[in-house]
Amino acid sequence: MNMDSIVSLCKRRGFLFQSSEIYGGLQGFWDYGPLGVELKRNVKEAWWSDMVNGHDDMSTLSGAPSPYSMEGLDCTIIMHPQVWKCSGHYDLFHDHMVDCRETKKRYRYDQINGRWVEAKGRKIFVTAPAGDEEQEHLTKQTLKFFKLRNKHIDDLKWDGPVVCLTNLENFDEVLGPDAKSLGSLTEPREFNLMFKTFVGALSGEEGAAFLRPETAQGIFVNFKNVLDSTRHRLPLGIAQIGKSFRNEITPRNFTFRSREFEQMEIEFFCHPDQSQEWYRYWRDRRLKWYHDLGISGDNLIMREHHQDELAHYSIGTADIEYAFPFMSEGEYGELEGVSHRGDFDLRSHMEGKLDEKSTDLALQLNADGKPKWKGSGKDLSYRDDLTNEKYVPHVIEPSAGADRATLAFLCEAYTEDQQPDEKGKMQTRTVMKLHPRIAPIKAAIFPLVKKDGMPEVAKEVYLDLKKHFKVFYDEKGAVGRRYRRQDEAGTPYCITVDGQTLEDQTVTIRDRDSLEQTRIKIDECESVIRDRIRQ
Ligand code: GAP
Repeated sequence: MNMDSIVSLCKRRGFLFQSSEIYGGLQGFWDYGPLGVELKRNVKEAWWSDMVNGHDDMSTLSGAPSPYSMEGLDCTIIMHPQVWKCSGHYDLFHDHMVDCRETKKRYRYDQINGRWVEAKGRKIFVTAPAGDEEQEHLTKQTLKFFKLRNKHIDDLKWDGPVVCLTNLENFDEVLGPDAKSLGSLTEPREFNLMFKTFVGALSGEEGAAFLRPETAQGIFVNFKNVLDSTRHRLPLGIAQIGKSFRNEITPRNFTFRSREFEQMEIEFFCHPDQSQEWYRYWRDRRLKWYHDLGISGDNLIMREHHQDELAHYSIGTADIEYAFPFMSEGEYGELEGVSHRGDFDLRSHMEGKLDEKSTDLALQLNADGKPKWKGSGKDLSYRDDLTNEKYVPHVIEPSAGADRATLAFLCEAYTEDQQPDEKGKMQTRTVMKLHPRIAPIKAAIFPLVKKDGMPEVAKEVYLDLKKHFKVFYDEKGAVGRRYRRQDEAGTPYCITVDGQTLEDQTVTIRDRDSLEQTRIKIDECESVIRDRIRQ
């Protein structure tokens, strides 16, 4: 699987375009084209239907400690600034960056690796962006700096292993990843990832607000509203799909790290005593969701975080990761995080920002001994009307990215195989083997030839199916070529009206993956497609 081929297909077939492309594009922003918008909508729809509307709240699902309820929510992107102060994003949501004075490039401090190397009697610390072809980059940079040729590679004396730049205190002898001279990297500086804006006519700090960097906080601050309006008992999950914004320093890898993206988040509120069981349930449930939609076991892993990787408030976190083609062999990128957040979020919005350094998560105080950021003061605890027990619920958070999931489905679907063309000659076929549930177009309808009444019948079939699914009509060019175009678009079924149709009202239905063609009655088309999509 080659990322360049996937990116090129996405542009050519209208899955993804660079935002504002005619003006040179805007880094970290992407537009979904006609096929892409359908694919992403289907991904979100599958998530909503499987997690929220289609959830069976009457049964105890496999692996769950009990039945539970699910509700949805749609909150605003701009919320009261105090939300971000109490949640910790305002203080904490920053990265440390280093700038290169020479090349004007900016890097994440913790994503630059380097190694001490000696040549021509001088020792320097040469650096490269962490990840792909790191050592190759280090060697090239070193040879360039010392004005040596490839044949002198063996003259370089490497000292010690590759380490992160964060291990160095002084950058005087550091050669930046793209620099020609030493000492061009600045000291690390903080960079806030939240986009700032101004509400109303005031452009001063009184009107300052932020575009949300996650959808989760909208759920926490509405917990009581949802509980009171629906009269559910816990356990209760509240789900939201929506845009989030992060001023990422290094947006890269297509849509993987964007500055505007969509999240699909659930905050699941439960009794503290049952939270570990629910955590395990949600980890497994979410992993299975990706499997069920066609991501193979080899490319998908669940990675439990080590204790030292966990956020201060997190009792446990597991990432669901995918082997994206732009990652090095054996590396995976995060698709979704499932975290056990304890009562951190609800307490933060009740009491105020909590001190991440204190072991019992005490309220963070300012120099006057007052809360650094005051909470809402509202009681967000829950009283169980059966036991009369009152407690602050614990939260399990499965937090997925709609764009990352869509990208993973695209990467997983991309396949090249060899198939015979109309003349029986073997040709390379590009086929997007998307699960029929998320495929942008469910079926394409073709008349075999553009005469003998076939287009008329095919158009009737098309208009009838259009009432139920996203379908496509095509009568242009050789039928083999029309099949190929649909294979590239990921269309699972092609229905062809031919000479026999006019005699017995049957059509052929071709399966994209097996290439098998079967004859079915015209009036069975809808039910056949519906059944196959469900499988
Ligand atoms: N409320 C928890 C939270 O937001 P996160 O790990 O920062 O956690 C959750 O984000 C998911 O959102 C990620 O697993 C990823 O799928 C998606 N995501 C985060 N940052 C993203 C970005 N810059 N571009 C695309 N997707 C992103």
